[in-house]
Amino acid sequence: MKKIGLGIALIIIITIIAIIQNNEKQNVLEPEYVFTYAENQPENYPTTLGGHKFAELVEERTNGRIKIMVQAEGILGDEKAVIQQMQFGGIDFTRASLSTLSESNPKLNVLQMPYLYQDSKHMWKVLEGEIGDEFLNSFAGSDLVALSWYDAGARNFYNTKRPIKSLEDMSGLRIRVQESDLMIDMVEALGAVAVPIVYDDVYSALETDVIDGAENNWPSYEIKSHYEVAKYYTVDEHTRVPEVQLCAKSTWDKLSTEDQEIISECAKESALYERALWIEREKQSQKIISENGVEVVVLSAEEKERFREAVTKVYEEYCGDYMDMIEQIIKEGTQ
Ligand code: GCU
Repeated sequence: MKKIGLGIALIIIITIIAIIQNNEKQNVLEPEYVFTYAENQPENYPTTLGGHKFAELVEERTNGRIKIMVQAEGILGDEKAVIQQMQFGGIDFTRASLSTLSESNPKLNVLQMPYLYQDSKHMWKVLEGEIGDEFLNSFAGSDLVALSWYDAGARNFYNTKRPIKSLEDMSGLRIRVQESDLMIDMVEALGAVAVPIVYDDVYSALETDVIDGAENNWPSYEIKSHYEVAKYYTVDEHTRVPEVQLCAKSTWDKLSTEDQEIISECAKESALYERALWIEREKQSQKIISENGVEVVVLSAEEKERFREAVTKVYEEYCGDYMDMIEQIIKEGTQ
């Protein structure tokens, strides 16, 4: 009798454990939300790896309730198209360059003005401080929610024709720029001809001589193989264009406050991860570039001053209303 009782108790316990395990399994296997995340860089690029880290953290902290599918290589469209789709809720998340976003939010130009930051440390001091927060919050009321800043280093000029050592060397070069009025005017102020082209088309435009050159950070120049065709790279660090992780407002509004907090927290953590990867990737890209016959010129301090003077009028045009903020940013670099 005793044995039968024990047997029944055991069966009950095993059944309860099986039910609990099954419930847990179901929780993990059936996400409540499956979201899309657009990224225009290749898989092994720091921002893409940051996006994957973000997805992983969110999945972990929501016990699999929220799944984010990172689609790299620009398969969901170029940055401009992705932003448009996000405004209609067609894509849930992305990581985008501020240049693309400033066309609809011109105040963002302040953060990417030419020769504004002394170095990376200066830019991060600004982005991590009050100004950075103010800009993330400046998306409020739009169709997008800004989550965190990603690193994209400094941008430099490169071309197929000649080493750029002076302002005169810029003259007449057809330089690809992002689809941004600020970038067009900056390049033209330096004496070159600006040609706006989508990122993915730059390699073939260089190869077929549609353009003479472009400008980008070391990792982009390397990973997109632009160095194979444009052998002159000049380090002038004309801009540091921060990147931002975004969520479509329509997606954001579907989530509970707790889930919104998890998403914000994971985005910020993934940004720290991306920034660490960025430093490594810059070094790796520089090594690949130096091993592949690229002539790298570091612009002299005197010439850089001439470049800086040449773009003064761009400040007047784009930051007239925000000069106090520009001054504040410059001040941050001296403290
Ligand atoms: C960087 C940035 C991309 C952007 C590209 C460009 O590589 O990470 O998001 O599209 O610049 O020059 O268009």
